[in-house]
Amino acid sequence: MKEYVAEQLELGFLELTAPFDKMTLEKLRAEVMACTRCELHKTRQNVVFGEGNENADLVFIGEAPGAEEDQQGRPFVGAAGKLLTKIIEAMKFTREEVYIANVLKCRPPNNRDPLPNEVTHCKPFLTRQLELIKPKVICVLGTHAARALINSSEGITRMRGQFYMYNGIKVMPTFHPAYLLRNDSAKRPVWSDVQKIMAELGKQSK
Ligand code: URA
Repeated sequence: MKEYVAEQLELGFLELTAPFDKMTLEKLRAEVMACTRCELHKTRQNVVFGEGNENADLVFIGEAPGAEEDQQGRPFVGAAGKLLTKIIEAMKFTREEVYIANVLKCRPPNNRDPLPNEVTHCKPFLTRQLELIKPKVICVLGTHAARALINSSEGITRMRGQFYMYNGIKVMPTFHPAYLLRNDSAKRPVWSDVQKIMAELGKQSK
């Protein structure tokens, strides 16, 4: 953009009449679909950009697509996704009312943890998604998603249960639904965390 303006000025076009193209989620999606910034593009079946209400008050962010998400090109559609849908509905929202995305848009092989360089390359896409959606609350699921938005090296057990701020938006970290599938005892703290989000968004919990 800066170079373009400088070039236009140099060429003598002092008045820039043509409005710059507005960034939209659709344009951003097209950019992400063509991404080759890291090695994950070589093994992906599909890019998983994210989906839901583009004006959502509430955004959920996971770590990265798994096998099912990679197949379908949609976030949280496997077993953990079904549990996330239940959590969303228990919060008196529908999946369509919220927005769901991941830190990484492509599946890491064998569902390994995201590598630091993958997060570095991919996170700007999430940042721009959040700038466009402008939610009131973000719920980050699990340690990797929490660390992507919250400046902390703590694990999710320590981080969860309280709001943090990210660019003026309230962020609530909680356990990842995949962890919930294996740990029944995490259900109670997750319910407590999402009740705080519901209160923030004016939803009655009972
Ligand atoms: N786990 C995630 O973190 N994201 C998905 O989309 C699916 C499973």
